[in-house]
Amino acid sequence: MKENPRHLSILGMLLALSCCLLLSQSAPAPAHPLVTDSSYDYDSSATAECLAEPGSTAYKGGIIVNPEFSNSTAGWTVFGKGAIELRRSPESNVFMVALHRKASRDSFSQRVFLEEGNHYSFSAWIQVSKGTEAVAAMFRTSEGVFVSGGSVVANQGCWSLLKGGIFANSSGPADVLFESRNTSIDLFIDNVSLQPFSKKQWRSHQDERIKKVRKSEVTFRVIDCNGTEVRGAIISVKQTKTEFPFGCGLNFHILDSEEYRNWFSARFKYTTFTNSMKWYSTEVKRGIENYAVADAMVAFAEENGIRIRGHNIFWDDPKYQPEWVKTLSGEELRAAAERRINSVVTRYNGRLIAWDVVNENLHFSFFEDKLGKNTSAAYFSTAYSLDPSSRMFMNEYNTIEYSGDVTAGPSNYLKRLKGILTYPGNDRLLPGIGVEGHFGQGQPNLAYIRSSLDILATAGIPIWMTEVDVGKGPGQDEYLEQVLREGFSHPAVEGIIMFAGPESAGFNVTTLADRNFKNTPAGEAVDRLIEEWRTGSFETRTDDQGSFKTALYHGEYEIRVENPVWRSSTVTKVEVKKALRGRTIDIKIGP
Ligand SMILES: *[C@@H]1O[C@H](CO)[C@@H](O)[C@H](O)[C@H]1NC(C)=O
Ligand SMILES: *[C@@H]1O[C@H](CO)[C@@H](O)[C@H](O)[C@H]1NC(C)=O
Ligand SMILES: *[C@@H]1O[C@H](CO)[C@@H](O)[C@H](O)[C@H]1NC(C)=O
Ligand SMILES: *[C@@H]1O[C@H](CO)[C@@H](O)[C@H](O)[C@H]1NC(C)=O
Ligand SMILES: *[C@@H]1O[C@H](CO)[C@@H](O)[C@H](O)[C@H]1NC(C)=O
Ligand SMILES: *[C@@H]1O[C@H](CO)[C@@H](O)[C@H](O)[C@H]1NC(C)=O
Ligand SMILES: *[C@@H]1O[C@H](CO)[C@@H](O)[C@H](O)[C@H]1NC(C)=O
Repeated sequence: MKENPRHLSILGMLLALSCCLLLSQSAPAPAHPLVTDSSYDYDSSATAECLAEPGSTAYKGGIIVNPEFSNSTAGWTVFGKGAIELRRSPESNVFMVALHRKASRDSFSQRVFLEEGNHYSFSAWIQVSKGTEAVAAMFRTSEGVFVSGGSVVANQGCWSLLKGGIFANSSGPADVLFESRNTSIDLFIDNVSLQPFSKKQWRSHQDERIKKVRKSEVTFRVIDCNGTEVRGAIISVKQTKTEFPFGCGLNFHILDSEEYRNWFSARFKYTTFTNSMKWYSTEVKRGIENYAVADAMVAFAEENGIRIRGHNIFWDDPKYQPEWVKTLSGEELRAAAERRINSVVTRYNGRLIAWDVVNENLHFSFFEDKLGKNTSAAYFSTAYSLDPSSRMFMNEYNTIEYSGDVTAGPSNYLKRLKGILTYPGNDRLLPGIGVEGHFGQGQPNLAYIRSSLDILATAGIPIWMTEVDVGKGPGQDEYLEQVLREGFSHPAVEGIIMFAGPESAGFNVTTLADRNFKNTPAGEAVDRLIEEWRTGSFETRTDDQGSFKTALYHGEYEIRVENPVWRSSTVTKVEVKKALRGRTIDIKIGP
C-alpha cells in the first residue's frame, strides 16, 4: 500500500486514543474574564491610609536637596508670606511646618532644574494642623506659571501620601511648593521626592512591566503515553484568545454601516456603548421607553462575541438628564429613577460584564441633591440586587488625566468608593474603579497617571480605563500610544476601552479610521498595539528533555504537537494566565 500521510495520521490518532485513553487533558477551565487576581504588584510604598509617622522617601529624594529635613532647612526657603519651622514627631522625626499663612500658596519651596522632555515623579508626606484639607504640590515655572503636580486630602494627626508628577515642556528652573486654600491651617511636610525619568527610561519601564504583568513564562513538556519525554517533536503554538480586555466604544452607526461592523468586529472583543444605553436615549419622553437601538447593538455584540460594559444607569451631571427629568419634584424623581434602574438593569441582566452605576458622582450630585447623600450607594445596592454578577463601577474623569483636579483626585475617589461600599449590603457586590481617560491635546503627564493608578490600586479593586481618547493635534497617535501603554503596563488595570472609532460614525476627537475606513495614524497605532499585545503563532521543537520554554501573553492557546514518526498530531488547549507562571505543563501525545 502506498504511504498515505493523512491515513497514517488518522491511524496515529486512533492508536493514541487506545493507548492514552485514560490520560486526562490538563487544560484548566477558562476563567470568568473579570475574576481578579488578588496579588497586585503596584508600587508597594503607595498608600491611601493616613499613617502615624511619614513613610519612605521615594528614590532617596531624587533631585530634592535635604528631602527629609535632616540638615535643618538647607535647600528650602519661605514661599510667599508666612513662616517656617522645624518640628519633631513623637518618634523624633524632624519635619517642616508652614505657618502664619495668608494666601493659599504661602508655604516653602525649593528651586529645582527641569529638563525638557523628562517625566518627573513627585511624592511627599503631608499633615494639616486641623481638620481635613486638600493640599497640592505646585511647580512655579520660570514663566511664572503654576503647574499642579497632584494633590491629597490630608488630615490632622496623621500623615498622608501625596503622589503625583509633572512633564517638563521646556528646560529651566522651577520652584516646588505646597498649596492649600485654607490659610487658617498649618502644613506639615516631610520626606519629599522628585525623580526625573527620560522618555526612554519611562518606555523601558513600561516594557519591563508589560512583560512581568501580562506574560508568563511556562515550560511545555511533551510526553508519550508511557510517560517518556518526546525529543524533537514539532510544536505549533497559536494564541486563540487574548486575556486582556482592550476594547472600543460603539455608537448607533454600527446598525447602518456594514463597514463599521466589519471594522469593529475585526479588532475588538470588548465595548461600551457611548450613549445608547443612557437614560436620555432610552426614555426621551416620560413613560415611553425605547430600547430598539440598544437592543440591536447588544445583538450585534453578542453575535460577534463582544462583551459589553453597561454605560450608564444614571449620570450625576444635571445637564445630561432626559429633559423631562430635570423638572421633576423629589418624590417624582425618586419614583422615575426607581423605574429606570429596574428597567435597564433587569433588561440586560446577565448579558453585560459591568455597569457604570452613577456616572461622575465626584464632580456632580444631581441625584444626591434631590434625593439625599447616600443615593449613589443606594443605587449600587439596587443594581447589585438586580444583576449580582456584573461588576459595579464608579466612573469619573480627570482622576488620571489632570493633576490639577482635586475633586476627582485619587484620594477623593477612594473616599467616595469606600462610602459606597460600606453602605449596608454593598460589601457583597463586585466593585470596579472606572477612570475615563479623556486626555487633552499634547503630551500626557505619564508620571501623574502612574501615581494616581498606584494610589487607586491600594484598594485592591480592579481598575478599568473606560473612555480613553486623546485630543486632536500633532503627535496624537504617539500620545494615545503612550497612554495605552501606561494602562496596559499597570498591574491593577484590568481593562481598557477607548472612546474612539471611525470618522463616518462621528468619532471626531480620536478618529481611528477615515471615511474610507483607512487607518488614521491613531488607528495605525492601535492596530500595532493589538498585534504587539498578543503572541501570534510560531513553531518550535522540543529539546533533549522533551521540553520547550517560552514567555506567552496571557490568554487561550492551541498547542499542536506533531509526532514525527507517526505523523499524528495532538491539539491541546491551554489557558495561560498568571497562576501558571513558571509551571511545567505536560502535553500527552499518542504514539
Ligand atoms: C522620613 O524622614 C525622616 C526624617 O525626617 C527619616 O528619618 C525617616 O527614615 C523617613 N521615613 C522613611 C520611612 O524613610
Ligand atoms: C547641610 O547644609 C549646608 C548648607 O546649608 C551644607 O553646606 C552642608 O554640606 C549640608 N550638610 C549635609 C550633611 O548635607
Ligand atoms: C479652615 O480650617 C478650619 C480648621 O479645620 C475650619 O474650621 C474652617 O472651617 C476651614 N475654612 C474653610 C473655608 O474651609
Ligand atoms: C506642559 O504643557 C502642558 C500643555 O500646555 C501644560 O498643561 C502643562 O502644565 C505644562 N507643564 C509644565 C511643567 O509646564
Ligand atoms: C441614608 O441617608 C439618610 C439621610 O439622608 C439616613 O437617614 C439613612 O439612614 C441612610 N441610610 C443608610 C442605609 O445609610
Ligand atoms: C464632534 O462631534 C460632536 C457630536 O457628534 C459634535 O457636536 C461636534 O460639533 C463635533 N466637533 C467637530 C470639531 O467636528
Ligand atoms: C509503551 O510501552 C509499551 C510496553 O513497554 C511498548 O510496547 C510501547 O511501544 C510503548 N509505547 C511508546 C509510544 O513508547
